[in-house]
Amino acid sequence: MTSVANVYAPLPVRPLLHFTPPKAWMNDPNGLVYFDGEYHLFYQYYPEGLEWGPMHWGHAVSRNMIDWQHLDVALFPDERGMCFSGSAIVDHNDSSGLFDGQPGLLLFYTAHRVSGSAAEDYEQDQCIAYSCDKGRSWQKYAGNPVIPVPGFRDFRDPKVIWHEASQYWIMALACGQTIRFYRSENLLDWSLCSEFGEHQGSHTEGPWECPDLFELPVEGGTGSRWVLVVGVGAGKDSWGSFTQYFIGDFDGTHFHNENAPDKVLLMDHSRDFYAVQSWSDAPDNRRIVIAWINNWLYANKIPENGWRGMMTIPREIRLVATTEGVRIGQRFVPELGEQRAWQRAMIACGAVDEGGQLALTMAQESIKPVHGSISFAMQPGSCVDLYLSQPEQPDLTFRRTDSGLIMSYQRAGQNGDDAFDRFFPCHFDLPIIQSQASVTLEWASDNGSLELLINDGIYSLTSLQLCQSDVVVDNMQKLMVVSGGIEITGGQTNVLG
Ligand code: FRU
Repeated sequence: MTSVANVYAPLPVRPLLHFTPPKAWMNDPNGLVYFDGEYHLFYQYYPEGLEWGPMHWGHAVSRNMIDWQHLDVALFPDERGMCFSGSAIVDHNDSSGLFDGQPGLLLFYTAHRVSGSAAEDYEQDQCIAYSCDKGRSWQKYAGNPVIPVPGFRDFRDPKVIWHEASQYWIMALACGQTIRFYRSENLLDWSLCSEFGEHQGSHTEGPWECPDLFELPVEGGTGSRWVLVVGVGAGKDSWGSFTQYFIGDFDGTHFHNENAPDKVLLMDHSRDFYAVQSWSDAPDNRRIVIAWINNWLYANKIPENGWRGMMTIPREIRLVATTEGVRIGQRFVPELGEQRAWQRAMIACGAVDEGGQLALTMAQESIKPVHGSISFAMQPGSCVDLYLSQPEQPDLTFRRTDSGLIMSYQRAGQNGDDAFDRFFPCHFDLPIIQSQASVTLEWASDNGSLELLINDGIYSLTSLQLCQSDVVVDNMQKLMVVSGGIEITGGQTNVLG
């Protein structure tokens, strides 16, 4: 073994697979839309600072969601205030009348104004900006706001979709701790339809934020379901901001949750998956999402290096019928495997017995991004550790017990003797549904993060990793059978050469 260090990087190295801003502070993904061969990614941006500040919309485009080209800042704060999060659509038939009969791009954002000296003194309303040149320049709509201040504070993050069955545009809007649905024929005049969320799912002291709404077919089941995704703001003394979702039906005016109101479904079980949004108008009916790998608890404090904040690898969302009901399943977009100069290696199938170890990647002098997948069946009573980003402790442990499969995740959070943040280190157990004995895992480890998708991505664990990457570590990724035995049934690792 070479020397082992587990300290966080004072100067983080840019990830090679993940989107980061050209400089300065970034938070939520915004305005995700596909138009004319390009995936657009806007994001909450403060180009003048490394901490959250007056919000702009940064902008980038890509043809494959992996290689991004930075474009000019799309939205700047103005007399209406900062430009908070929101969405984008293609106005194919010029319903808005803003595009001279041609298709055009529309952004929906929240204008946020400070209205006094106390922290709670602010107001928010909903605004539009449009582009007639494929998103290269933007004009704010002269009739802003399209939805005025409602008389309460937290009123933000408009997500607009086309609802085919009712032939209306629908806007989902975070309002305090509920989601309101508005509808419109022309994208400019909106009327309130309903409100969802009271006594539903998870509530903290923080507001609900960044809703998303889409319909998907159920794999292995019948028909389709509507999914409502909601960011839950950080409460006091909690592990911070996280993302929940509801499964049910949206009939054009109301969302009906098909689960018990107190059932909480998490889109990610780790700490750093927030403000997730899906692309509007993605080709082939794909539902592709991207999230901010961060947590408001410590987002302003994570190590920076002239830039701060990164997005997940884009993921394709499916709906899976499980023994406990319909759940979201996630996988990295296949484009990930098609890009970059990967060195590919198959993982050998076969048995690994107690005490056995399987190298998933070779020892390396410095950390290289890895995209891997592995599947294995576990004998009764067996226990498996996976070391994917931390040399000193496994990231993941699977235990097959009499009652099923338990997964444990842990993350260190120390810089030498200094705790980075008391909520950063974490360790939790999760029973896995629908599997007595087998595990599939897809992972991506890059500079600064680890993304884990387990059992067809029904479980997602997305985490910042602060291990220093320029010290020499025993950086081999490996699996160790602590007890019992397993049968490897397939796998592959792609290492960025
Ligand atoms: C979520 C959020 C949004 C808001 C934006 C401000 O992370 O708080 O609700 O629009 O960030 O930057």
